[in-house]
Amino acid sequence: MDTRQETVQNVEAPWLVLLAAGKGTRLAAQTRGLPKQFLTYRERPLYWQSVRTSVASETIAGVVLVFPKDVFEENRELALGFAQGDGINLPLLFARGGARRQDSVLAGLELVPKSATHVLVHDAARPFFSTNLVHALCEKLREGAIAVIPGLAVKDTIKQVDGCGLVLATPDRSALRAVQTPQGFDRRLLWEAHHALNTQSNTVTDDASLMEAAGHKVWIVEGEEANLKITTADDLKALEKTVPCTGFGYDVHRYGGERPLVLGGIAIPSPYTIAAHSDGDVLLHALMDALLGMIGKGDIGELFPDSDPAFDGASSVELLKTVLGLVHEAGVTLTHADVTVIAQKPRLGAYKKSIREHLASLLGLDIAHVNVKATTEEGLGFTGELLGIKACAVVAGLSGGK
Ligand code: CTP
Ligand code: MG
Repeated sequence: MDTRQETVQNVEAPWLVLLAAGKGTRLAAQTRGLPKQFLTYRERPLYWQSVRTSVASETIAGVVLVFPKDVFEENRELALGFAQGDGINLPLLFARGGARRQDSVLAGLELVPKSATHVLVHDAARPFFSTNLVHALCEKLREGAIAVIPGLAVKDTIKQVDGCGLVLATPDRSALRAVQTPQGFDRRLLWEAHHALNTQSNTVTDDASLMEAAGHKVWIVEGEEANLKITTADDLKALEKTVPCTGFGYDVHRYGGERPLVLGGIAIPSPYTIAAHSDGDVLLHALMDALLGMIGKGDIGELFPDSDPAFDGASSVELLKTVLGLVHEAGVTLTHADVTVIAQKPRLGAYKKSIREHLASLLGLDIAHVNVKATTEEGLGFTGELLGIKACAVVAGLSGGK
């Protein structure tokens, strides 16, 4: 009977074996001996970025983290703390790694629940794989592939050489692929291939090699340029790379309700009261929407629904703290905020300075990177008719980096 047919089942939720048990010898001089997977990246060890992506993929059922034997217990404790701190509910299991990469894979595989039909094996030294790549691998597994790996066409001509540097052959470049992780497999068949072929005399550099040797077909999906393996000193620059990002927010509140006028957390003496479910701080609402826009997290209506009594009269300053927590979790550093309040009345000139100072302190920004403007609409529209007040906010930040 063809076991391949037998094992192709549900691949909605493969487990991920995350290899973080290497010594990082090629980078030891730059890291003072700290294995590269434990370098700090976004305030966590580098390996944690792969856990974040696993969570974000909404596809992975659980992660087996493989740590070096000698620092196993402390790293297990730390990882459980990170999971709690980051509110991660994904099941995490922990294995003690071996001397060679393939020994660490086997140690991890032994812990993957037998109920899992498929598994992804990933090097923690490749922190930048995307959720799209996870989805592409799973798609191919769903189509019935036993083994699927990401690969990129090679740019350089590759020579086969002997030990003295003499060129022996020039393989056809168009038939070559530089391969990456995560690599996706039928869990049981990978486990069998390891048990049969992962021997002391057979050292391999990836798991697909064992599957090939076991006679299974291995398929390539398009790899990602960004998915580099941190290996040499030059690669460390990738951990410092940042990408600029911006967000825009807009909010309106009607005059005439029960809430006193508050802008940027500052009470404004005014005969104009606000109709709102929360405290009606139109400026902070626009600012929060801008921050959520910057991290691609929807809007405050989704986050703090006004159908939820918990947010009745909620302090916008407290809500802003929650939003800033999300910005932090997203690995984005806020660098600048510019807000405009649009109201015919009251006149806000006298309050701009205190609002600006308060915002700078709330946002943890230098005052030079916070700007507060106020304008009227020349008597036009609903602000001109004194029916309400509105605010716009633009924020800028840097995503990624240490
Ligand atoms: N790895 C592992 N167990 C080993 C060796 C490697 O879990 N015994 C992991 C590494 O932590 C890394 C991945 O396998 O995430 C790829 O290996 P590599 O880039 O070679 O990392 P190191 O072996 O740590 O680095 P070096 O070869 O420079 O010592
Ligand atoms: Mg190695």
